Amino acid sequence: MSPRLDLIALDGPSGSGKSTTAKRTAERLGWSYLDTGAMYRATSLALHRAGVHLSDTDHVKNILAKIEINQEGTSIFLDGENVSDAIRTMEINQMVTPVSADGQVREAMVKQQQRLGRRGYWVVDGRDIGTVVFPEAIAKIFLVASIQVRSERRLKELTDKGILTNLEEVALDLERRDLADSTRSISPLRKAEDAIELDTSKRTVDEIVDLIVAHYEQRRTSL
Ligand code: DC
Repeated sequence: MSPRLDLIALDGPSGSGKSTTAKRTAERLGWSYLDTGAMYRATSLALHRAGVHLSDTDHVKNILAKIEINQEGTSIFLDGENVSDAIRTMEINQMVTPVSADGQVREAMVKQQQRLGRRGYWVVDGRDIGTVVFPEAIAKIFLVASIQVRSERRLKELTDKGILTNLEEVALDLERRDLADSTRSISPLRKAEDAIELDTSKRTVDEIVDLIVAHYEQRRTSL
């Protein structure tokens, strides 16, 4: 598929800096930002609240058809309720791994993401954006960072929210999710062939955004 959708796909493992980078890149370009991880999290919350197990495929199908997930700025809404905090607990962190590996859930989420992003001018972050959701995106970025840096970032995020945990527990959770995300059978986390890899461990957010915008401009003018 020829790369011509004016969209920046930002993939990478948990804690690699995707959401901060995606938000700032969108601000810089005056584009919209879509956090697809939050969509899987909101779906996990909906299933949890309804007490539905993934193995109950008919019930999961009903919930998927019924729920409405929206993003306004950086806030996530589930059926009109702002669930931005409720989707970032340790409990949802655990639940979202099997939920995001479920074929039925992925099919529904990918359809919704493609509907939103197809007109372009989006920065979209996730795990399968450059490979599956928008293979035609002009610019694809794969963000990485050391496990130490990723764990410190995630610990700060959780501590700021008043969630009690420690570096070791956070690192174990990240490694568990990395393994699950990159080895699942449907849409595993992997770098698209035409993506550039950027390490955020030793660079500021502004430096990373500069590199992304420069890469996008270069791709746009060369197509
Ligand atoms: O980016 P995050 O940690 O909020 O993502 C939550 C989970 O959702 C993560 O375990 C991987 C999964 N995910 C996915 O499978 N595909 C995406 N496009 C985005 C997230």
